[in-house]
Amino acid sequence: MAKTSLVLYKILVYYLSFVALTYSAPETALITQIPGFSGTFPSKHYSGYVTIDENHGRNLFYYFVESEGNPSKDPVVLWLNGGPGCSSFDGFIYEHGPFNFEAPKTQESLPILHLNPYSWSKVSSIIYLDSPAGVGFSYSKNQTDYITGDLKTATDTHVFLLKWFQLYPEFLSNPFFIAGESYAGVYVPTLASEVVKGIDAGTKPIVNFKGYLVGNGVTDEVFDGNALVPFAHGMGLISDELFEEVQNECRGNFYNPLSDACDGKLSEVDKNIAGLNIYDILEPCYHGTEMWDNAAVKIRLPSSFRQLGETDRPLPVRKRMFGRAWPFRAPVRDGIVPTWPQLLNSVSVPCTDDEVAYSWLNDAAVRKAIHAAEESIVGSWELCTDKIAFDHDAGSMIKYHKNLTARGYRALIFSGDHDMCVPFTGSEAWTRSVGYKIVDKWRPWTSNGQVAGYTQGYENNLTFLTIKGAGHTVPEYKPREAFDFYSRFLAGKPI
Ligand SMILES: *[C@@H]1O[C@H](CO)[C@@H](O)[C@H](O)[C@H]1NC(C)=O
Ligand SMILES: *[C@@H]1O[C@H](CO)[C@@H](O)[C@H](O)[C@H]1NC(C)=O
Ligand SMILES: *[C@@H]1O[C@H](CO)[C@@H](O)[C@H](O)[C@H]1NC(C)=O
Repeated sequence: MAKTSLVLYKILVYYLSFVALTYSAPETALITQIPGFSGTFPSKHYSGYVTIDENHGRNLFYYFVESEGNPSKDPVVLWLNGGPGCSSFDGFIYEHGPFNFEAPKTQESLPILHLNPYSWSKVSSIIYLDSPAGVGFSYSKNQTDYITGDLKTATDTHVFLLKWFQLYPEFLSNPFFIAGESYAGVYVPTLASEVVKGIDAGTKPIVNFKGYLVGNGVTDEVFDGNALVPFAHGMGLISDELFEEVQNECRGNFYNPLSDACDGKLSEVDKNIAGLNIYDILEPCYHGTEMWDNAAVKIRLPSSFRQLGETDRPLPVRKRMFGRAWPFRAPVRDGIVPTWPQLLNSVSVPCTDDEVAYSWLNDAAVRKAIHAAEESIVGSWELCTDKIAFDHDAGSMIKYHKNLTARGYRALIFSGDHDMCVPFTGSEAWTRSVGYKIVDKWRPWTSNGQVAGYTQGYENNLTFLTIKGAGHTVPEYKPREAFDFYSRFLAGKPI
């Protein structure tokens, strides 16, 4: 008997070592320490490159945070920031990553990292991906790769994902979700569609795809373009008279004015709202001419501004007025989407305080610790790049959402309700337009015993949700509320 158990034990040890050798995450990607953080990592962190095209030398950079809960069971989520051209370190540093970054006391020192109590890694493992090549730390040795668009980005990201799961096969059976915001309103459904096509075709490895989340996401030229006027009226930014006039002249078509009279009324709307911060109408905007004069240098905000925009976070983060998308009243249309730096002919995103991210991610020791390529190869890290030329070639996202939800994939379409860049009015209207039956009628949802926003649930697990008082990047403004709806959605519970 004892002999048998010994044999069994030996077999088990042999088997386990085999499993460990074949199925463990790549040790070279493990992050063992990180400048600015002196505590213990609450879970394992990995980062590095996945080569998605050997011939071109096209390499996508990821930072992977294992769940601090139960990594073997918790969902794996791929996170994408938008732009196009913006790095997903935006989400990592400013929104829902494992650390809160305290700005350095002096110019020379590095930010200090504290644990983020509302990190999404408490309930899920997250892959922060810089995509497409040319963004953040991702790069290609062949510059032609920087001319890209929706469809190429989606197929590239799909290649990344399959290769990533080959490196981390122990996560293959976990529920998998795709999430992102802003222009990722295009990245998320187009990638989800590639993933589903791969599953249908039996392309290995088979991902356990369950659903997706889109925050203040670009979706459809008409719905997004028509969203601003009703938003401005509902928020008390334009008068009843102007609202009636613009409606009469434009007849509900605000996205593509067909008459001079309509155009004229829209200009009056613009005049009323031009002084606001379009990413959160409650936040101040830095409209000094210095902003434009200094566009070629990193923008440093006045100290008075640093006291504004407090959130639940234990530490102040940036008081964002940034842009990560496109200018005011210019819905994304088919064709080339200019990046902010391209619009401004500079490297900075207007009104953005990206100092903390910039100083941290361009520090040689940090880059070494997180396995990012050296500056001589990939250049300096930028929040949003103008390296890429990006074509919006996938059209409206509504057809993607219809297909995906009809196939049983769960979708959460959430909106910070004070964002004027991709206003909730557009997302509310397009989700309704899909024509699904309402199964959870418009109602408040709560966080910490308070109304945190409103939600309407449709059949096929399509849910629309607002976050009261949040701007364009919801988890940055409302970290606790964002953590709550995120955890509930992933767990398949009502929000
Ligand atoms: C870059 O890629 C293009 C398109 O595949 C190819 O024609 C060109 O030869 C490549 N350039 C280099 C330097 O490899
Ligand atoms: C949606 O599904 C239909 C039918 O399966 C397919 O023909 C179409 O290409 C799909 N569209 C998208 C955008 O995925
Ligand atoms: C909606 O999601 C729940 C939880 O994952 C699942 O049990 C249910 O089957 C889904 N419903 C539809 C119609 O896909």
